[in-house]
Amino acid sequence: MRTPVIAGNWKLFKTAPEAIGLVTGLVPLIAGKSGVEVVIAPVFTVLDRVRSAIAGSGIHLAAQDCFWEEEGAFTGEVSPKMLIDAGCTHVIIGHSERRQYFGETDATVNRKIHAAGVAGLTVLFCVGETLEERESGNTFNVLRTQIAGGLAGVGTAAMERVIVAYEPVWAIGTGRTASDEQAQEAHAFIRSELHSLYGPATAAATRILYGGSVKPENIGGLIAQNDIDGALVGGASLKAESFAVLVNAA
Ligand code: PGA
Repeated sequence: MRTPVIAGNWKLFKTAPEAIGLVTGLVPLIAGKSGVEVVIAPVFTVLDRVRSAIAGSGIHLAAQDCFWEEEGAFTGEVSPKMLIDAGCTHVIIGHSERRQYFGETDATVNRKIHAAGVAGLTVLFCVGETLEERESGNTFNVLRTQIAGGLAGVGTAAMERVIVAYEPVWAIGTGRTASDEQAQEAHAFIRSELHSLYGPATAAATRILYGGSVKPENIGGLIAQNDIDGALVGGASLKAESFAVLVNAA
């Protein structure tokens, strides 16, 4: 009943020719695949060109971040309205790299989720613990705080356009994936938090993606878990062949 999602986070990679090359390779490899929501998140500067290259393919376009104001004197920022103008239907918010390097907090994540939702974007809301937090037994506390903070004031109706991505920081870009059991345990916890906040229907309907060194070799075990509804993929989304394997496995 939850349509799986495979989302590619391209991070700070791919110039326009490289981006077009990637999607041109990808489209035929996943043509005919149904029952999965495919999302790619290129850098802002290539969104519009990628939009043209994926037209008619069913692939959804996402941005990697957005600001919470619609417009104004905010040098360097991009608003949800402008992302929609560039062809986006989705936006990643609260990625751990933004939290780690760019001062993103649960409060700023929350403002962005509200603004993106109001504009009509589907949010890929990222949460996840660091290695230190896991090893000190704080994984669930961290997840609870990030979920409550990020979703503060977000109502049940708005949750229809929120996808949660569980990305343990220690698994991102490290080649060290969470085991299927570790991931399932965290996903089940996140779903129970959604149940406390929103009740059974929203908890059952919300997609929860796993992210952190997802690749063709480990997607099968992860996607087979009850509470894992897809993947947010960095490294393996940068090649058409590996990303297509993930899409076709979902
Ligand atoms: P990775 O990145 O797949 O390269 O670990 C995942 C992410 O940061 O979304």
